[in-house]
Amino acid sequence: MFVSYTNPKNRMLPNRDTMKISRRISEVPMSGIRKMFDLAGPDSINLGLGEPDLAPPSEAIEGMNRAASAGLNKYGPTAGIPELRDAVAKRYSMYGDLKGSNIMITPSGSSALLEITQSMVDPGDDVLIPSPGFVIYGPHAQLAGGSYTEYRLTEGDFQPDIDDIQSKIKPNTKMIVVTTPSNPTGGVLDEQTYKALCDIAADKDITILSDEVYDSFVYEGKHISFMNQLDKAVVVNGFSKMMAVTGWRMGFICANEEVMESLIRMQYHVCASPNMPAQYGILEALPNIEPYLENARSVFKARRDLISKRINEIPGMSIIPPKGAFYAFPSYDLDMPSAELANELARNGLICTPGSAFGKYGENHLRFSYAADEKKIEEGMNILEKVIGRLR
Ligand SMILES: Cc1ncc(COP(=O)(O)O)c(C=O)c1O
Repeated sequence: MFVSYTNPKNRMLPNRDTMKISRRISEVPMSGIRKMFDLAGPDSINLGLGEPDLAPPSEAIEGMNRAASAGLNKYGPTAGIPELRDAVAKRYSMYGDLKGSNIMITPSGSSALLEITQSMVDPGDDVLIPSPGFVIYGPHAQLAGGSYTEYRLTEGDFQPDIDDIQSKIKPNTKMIVVTTPSNPTGGVLDEQTYKALCDIAADKDITILSDEVYDSFVYEGKHISFMNQLDKAVVVNGFSKMMAVTGWRMGFICANEEVMESLIRMQYHVCASPNMPAQYGILEALPNIEPYLENARSVFKARRDLISKRINEIPGMSIIPPKGAFYAFPSYDLDMPSAELANELARNGLICTPGSAFGKYGENHLRFSYAADEKKIEEGMNILEKVIGRLR
């Protein structure tokens, strides 16, 4: 019998007594990011989305379609097709002597992060995660039976606070997660902090998990990658943001060959192999992706300048223009929790994300995505200006 789950009358909610949902997943909260969408009207300005609004490279779409039409619709190699692993290694060869065997194609950056924690974190281990930071690192540590501790990012330029990290390292600290460029802050790791993190990893024998999914979007300075530190780091990256294909679910991991052997075994048990046609699409676009990315960077940089200028013109709000990703993470001086302020903005037609959704050190900030056109950014900032003015 067909049961429509979209009809609430037919929806069967899991019953903890009869369905035996694991404590592991019951204790992991849902992300707060999507809650704002429920409060806002249909004509709201949406600066809440973490995905590029640009079209994907046409080569990627054509390549994927061609692969599907040619019958490449079966399971593939667990670590991804060798041609794509080689192409990724070649693209990132400026960071070291990378080979296809250092790369595994994954069904998204998110699942790459999960596979790494499942492969490296044991029950009882603790993982240091950035705060404010991307929302899935902590739950992933918990799902592996471990725990997590939030470390602070410095205010303004949002670098990992090395003193705070040092003070939170315990005998069971297994891993430090670093995100550069950062979601939600747009901060880009600087050389000095990078070196300090490498020293900590070497001295204390702690693995760095570096999430670099926004590496294509750096507007000032340069991206520093942990791909040249594979003795102590595992790197996650992906194609969602790079090629504006968030729905394709395509990511990759860069790791040394010893770690890679375990990760491939983990991925076999997660999904057997990543999406075949999508890999051929990515393969078609990747070698000549630079002009596409240059255009994307110039579009996003202009929007970054616009949103930073508009925010800094609002009394009580301030931001140092972020150097990377496509998020603005300004602070505000109202005595009001960010969740409440974001709700008030949503009721007035502007969707953004409260800083507190990204951890305890995210409070008193809002996250605006500027993966939206300039007209939307202007209209959104008009609403922000009006609401903040009224609340002050
Ligand atoms: C910092 C960061 N890492 C990883 C991801 C996961 O991206 P995906 O699963 O689309 O590859 C995201 C998505 O928003 C992100 O912001």
